[in-house]
Amino acid sequence: MAQEQVARAKRVVLAYSGGVDTSVCIPYLKQEWGVEEVITFAADLGQGDELEPIRRKALDSGASQSIVGDLIDPFIREFAFPAIRANALYEGRYPLSTALARPLIARRLVEVARELGADAVAHGCTGKGNDQVRFDVAIGALAPDLKVLTPAREWAMSREETIAYGERCGIPAPVSKKNPYSIDLNLLGRSIEAGPLEDPMVEPPEEVFAMTRSISDTPDEPQVVEIAFEQGNPVAIDGLALDPVSLIRRANELAGLHGFGRLDIIENRVVGIKSREIYETPGLLLLIRAHQELESLTLAADVVRYKRQIESSWADLVYQGLWFGPLKQALDGFLDCTQATVNGVVRLRLHKGNAVVIGRSSSSDSLYVPAMATYGSDDRFDHRAAEGFIYVWGMPTRLWAASQRQA
Ligand code: ARG
Repeated sequence: MAQEQVARAKRVVLAYSGGVDTSVCIPYLKQEWGVEEVITFAADLGQGDELEPIRRKALDSGASQSIVGDLIDPFIREFAFPAIRANALYEGRYPLSTALARPLIARRLVEVARELGADAVAHGCTGKGNDQVRFDVAIGALAPDLKVLTPAREWAMSREETIAYGERCGIPAPVSKKNPYSIDLNLLGRSIEAGPLEDPMVEPPEEVFAMTRSISDTPDEPQVVEIAFEQGNPVAIDGLALDPVSLIRRANELAGLHGFGRLDIIENRVVGIKSREIYETPGLLLLIRAHQELESLTLAADVVRYKRQIESSWADLVYQGLWFGPLKQALDGFLDCTQATVNGVVRLRLHKGNAVVIGRSSSSDSLYVPAMATYGSDDRFDHRAAEGFIYVWGMPTRLWAASQRQA
């Protein structure tokens, strides 16, 4: 929103990460856009950052109030678990670790703005990323009357200029000015961009990873893990029942230890550009792999096939910032309906960057019928019935082939 439209904003709640950009937003909103009071909101999404220094940094940067909200549990329950049930992989690969956090942050940002009687919210996203789309669309859906201030989309400062502006306002330059990467992280994973990674032919250096081990450092011994699901939600690992947050943490540890869960992809952003993305999302990818496998055992063939299309649409809309839209609700109806029978256990072997499924079972909902599948003497499949089936099934092909021969 441009400067002339924001002149009326008095009290603003800013989505705050502690980084330079969102820190510079604080003095910028006050000095350049005449905002009287900036209140920051930082979300704890299990990223492992120390939050007290971040809380204090906002105050040092000129915030009148600095709020930190623990969103870890809703993040996993309401956002990560539905994504696992949906086997959500954007463009077939990216499990949406960053994208899933945005509608939750937006929702809480709006709630805080309401609680404090703010007349606007703000974020520090730039004009070429996906996150601006996700925040703006979500806020527009939840609170159409709240203004959304987006200084970083307007100020046209380079990173160096932003740092210099911050230093003039008493905001210290980032500790490692030479860290060239842009990193987004939460309990589901890390996204690493920029610096040398902007060349798609440059292999990501080992230093960019933090949740997954390099293959050369992973154990030589494979490790077998068993993941149990109830109604499509992961509920236990190796027989130990875990609450959703502990379960994700455990899955991250196990997969990360064995170097599983790294991605290096070219991704199509909402704003039309291709970007090179490095991700590490060990637990989430492990759980999706296991969940897909259990579905192959417990869902009917036509449901599995149809669900693949729903999954891809679901992943697209989450990526594109449409979490609070009507298609999301409609698809969730389908997904919820399918998950009632997704109960059972999947066994995988983790070793040297791989997670290989080696077994699956469901005592209540398996559609695998041994008497039908077996080639042994207790086979109950009526082989002669196949002849009539194939006569009918192949009819269109035979008719078409005959007419081709005549032509
Ligand atoms: N491209 C990813 C997404 O849209 C991650 C974006 C944030 N990453 C970052 N390194 N700042 O979900």
